[in-house]
Amino acid sequence: MKLPGLIDPHVHMREPGAAHKEDWDSGTAAALAGGFTAVLAMPNTSPPVTGAETLDLALQAAGKKARCDYAQYLGAGPQIPDGLDDLARRSAGLKMYLDQTYGPLRLDEMTLWMAHFERWPHDRPIVAHAESRTLAAVILLAGLYDRPVHLAHVSLKEEILLIRKAKERGLKVTCEVAPHHLLLSTEDLPHLGQGRGEVRPRLASPEDRKALWENLAYIDCFATDHAPHTAAEKDSENPPPGFPGLETALPLLLSAVHEGRLSLEDVVLRMHTNPRQIFGLPEQPDTWIEVDEEAEWEIRGQEMLSRSAWTPFEGWKVRGRVQRVVLRGQEVYRDGQVLAPPGYGRNLRDDLAI
Ligand code: DOR
Ligand code: ZN
Repeated sequence: MKLPGLIDPHVHMREPGAAHKEDWDSGTAAALAGGFTAVLAMPNTSPPVTGAETLDLALQAAGKKARCDYAQYLGAGPQIPDGLDDLARRSAGLKMYLDQTYGPLRLDEMTLWMAHFERWPHDRPIVAHAESRTLAAVILLAGLYDRPVHLAHVSLKEEILLIRKAKERGLKVTCEVAPHHLLLSTEDLPHLGQGRGEVRPRLASPEDRKALWENLAYIDCFATDHAPHTAAEKDSENPPPGFPGLETALPLLLSAVHEGRLSLEDVVLRMHTNPRQIFGLPEQPDTWIEVDEEAEWEIRGQEMLSRSAWTPFEGWKVRGRVQRVVLRGQEVYRDGQVLAPPGYGRNLRDDLAI
């Protein structure tokens, strides 16, 4: 079966600063193995990407090493940087961290939230990490400033119900849900173990998970929130939050299709069509993936190309496997082998890229 190249609007590449968890090479290899031909990378690197210099630093690493196409987010910091129009044009969008997660980018002051909403060009994406009541505040800002906002990794019943209401009212909000919030819950924490179960937003209750499935019509994208940390880090005293997800998302969702929980069209809409439209990404010509939808296999962290080499879905039996990926006319992945060299990937925010 042939599908369009998948687009993941939410991944963490860890370069600059923590290449032992993942770099642009290993992360984009994992993306191709998972059927993704484009990834949008989050700014909570070290240093975080918050201005022209750090954006250049991340884009240099990506330019040298990426094997699939990409764009890099800018993180909203305590100051509004100079040259905002240029930064907006060169980045995937503005990421605002309004709740605590991995890295130093949390913004606490609501007046700062307002300043970013006011100043970031209204035709360029804003993505918010906002949970529960913070999410309610962001929806209010979307209305007050009359501009689109994309809500990252929605996990709670109250959140999806609020988004549903906002959409019914015509507010310009879109949202994504991660496979782990659709498929795991607090009930999985005992067998995952404390450190390995850490993720932000946290795994939610079975009732929350059920509400996401019931409101699938209001979920615009499936995004992995691929957040690689090593198994040793996850098992340490101070485990960082995050799950890798690039290599498991499509097989898990195709398994759900096989079980009749959603349709193939639902998946393509949320992993290709909508992300492309919401983030204004160019079409990748001569690009597709080939999937054996009947192939049954067992997920194993050790076999993944992501440097994190563990997964919360260890041992899950899934149906559907990526066999071949063609990106801009070139065979870039086949039967477990990544064929695109580092540097083959293009920056989707470079006007001349495609
Ligand atoms: O669990 C998470 N890990 N959630 C986030 O929002 C950030 C991410 C990370 O960068 O590790
Ligand atoms: Zn994230």
